[in-house]
Amino acid sequence: MQTAIYTFPGYHEEGEEIAETLKISAHEIKVHHFPDKESRVTLPEKKYDHVILFLSLDYPNNKLVELFLTCKSLRQQGTQRISLVAPYLCYMRQDKSFQPGEVISQQVIGQWLSDLLDDIITVDPHLHRIQSLDAVIPETNTIVVSATPLLAEFVKSLNKTVHLIGPDEESLQWVKSVAQISDSPYSVAKKERLSDTHVEIQLPEIDYNNQHVILIDDVISTGHTVSQTADKLYSEGAKQVDVITTHALFSKDAIALLNNAKIKNIWSSNSISHPSNLISLNDLLAQQIRSLL
Ligand code: R5P
Repeated sequence: MQTAIYTFPGYHEEGEEIAETLKISAHEIKVHHFPDKESRVTLPEKKYDHVILFLSLDYPNNKLVELFLTCKSLRQQGTQRISLVAPYLCYMRQDKSFQPGEVISQQVIGQWLSDLLDDIITVDPHLHRIQSLDAVIPETNTIVVSATPLLAEFVKSLNKTVHLIGPDEESLQWVKSVAQISDSPYSVAKKERLSDTHVEIQLPEIDYNNQHVILIDDVISTGHTVSQTADKLYSEGAKQVDVITTHALFSKDAIALLNNAKIKNIWSSNSISHPSNLISLNDLLAQQIRSLL
């Protein structure tokens, strides 16, 4: 079976590096946005039996339509197998109806992806009440990898004594794993989310005086969670607060908020392209793609 990677805009560099490791070719999908934001998608001319699409699904609404257009068109032209490498997987947070009438978007988008794709490789999806991605994206080969060993190697490479903190209960799984591998102490704060941009953080009761703290979270979006945690840590005497995140969503103003909270270093994996990317997932993703070839 002839296989190639097709990259969406913004992901060609990563796709090419991975393709080179795997000794397969990478081609660019071109996307044009008309003034009303409709998308025109142009596929590579060369056709393959197995196409591996590379596209992180942050800011997903347009991208989902472009993915749909791509997959339908590939099937029409005879592509037998379509795999998606989406280091960040969207629409995972709404896994139940919190209010009457609220759509459970995780289920709807999961089924939609399942109808389009044979395989999905993703990194640390934000699953909360649903444990397994198989339950979300049925009848598709789902491969979930974790970035936490790489985050832990990064912490080790700093060669400093640090205390790791997860800003909420959901972050326990990530911070615990990073702490175990990097042999660092860790604890987890409590968070109450009052709105998209309003959270209340309660720190665990330990002595922060003169401590160097690194906050570990899977996603930073508005930045309110980590900024408020950093404010509290500094008011309790911490000497430095840094953050490491897997998925650098960073909505507008998030970086300014982190800077105002005096967070010194902002480090992230390249699951979503961002200037803070310092931890490459490319080898990890290449290993998983190899298992599909
Ligand atoms: C929530 O459970 C996640 O792990 C993050 O803490 C959350 O998405 C961060 O959101 P924000 O940056 O908007 O506070």
